[in-house]
Amino acid sequence: MPWGPNTKSDTKKFVGRAIKFQSSKPRTRFELAITLRQTGELIGGCGIERRIRQPKLGTIGYCLNRAYWNKGYGTESAKALIEFGFTRLKLHKISALCDPENIGSNRVLKKSGMKLEGRLKENLAVRGRWVDDMLYGILEREWNPRLRAHPD
Ligand SMILES: CC(C)(COP(=O)(O)OP(=O)(O)OC[C@H]1O[C@@H](n2cnc3c(N)ncnc32)[C@H](O)[C@@H]1OP(=O)(O)O)[C@@H](O)C(=O)NCCC(=O)NCCS
Repeated sequence: MPWGPNTKSDTKKFVGRAIKFQSSKPRTRFELAITLRQTGELIGGCGIERRIRQPKLGTIGYCLNRAYWNKGYGTESAKALIEFGFTRLKLHKISALCDPENIGSNRVLKKSGMKLEGRLKENLAVRGRWVDDMLYGILEREWNPRLRAHPD
């Protein structure tokens, strides 16, 4: 993982920033909690951000508590972010970067309808080591409403 583990102070700063994003104008970043519908338990976070100078272009990301992996929540979150990006933010394109070795995340992006656009060589420095990124993307015209997290 390129980030973490976070200290309590890191987390407080992150939540503070996430709250500030809510009132930024124009709003470019949405950091959202992932909770269980039945109990309200917090199980992770996800977000969508649009570029300041290219506001029709967005990127998504997500992270879940390990105890809740492989239950479909990652895919549900990614699908909901993509739907929000196209229907509410009126984006033209949504992209995501992912570690080539992160099998779960590569799978989530594919299941959410995103297409692999390529492998970016040594695109990120993680703890002193250059690592590749997989670049995924989906255009608004390619998005099928049947890919919503909760289709009718
Ligand atoms: C990436 C992450 C969000 C995935 O969430 P999730 O809720 O487990 O995802 P889903 O259950 O919707 O889908 C995971 C898919 O990957 C598959 N998978 C996961 N690990 C696998 C493995 N080692 N081998 C083969 N398939 C694997 C699952 O079987 C599932 O596919 P399927 O539905 O076709 O069976 C979660 O692992 C996570 O939070 N990881 C840490 C943070 C992170 O990596 N964020 C993304 C940064 S790019």
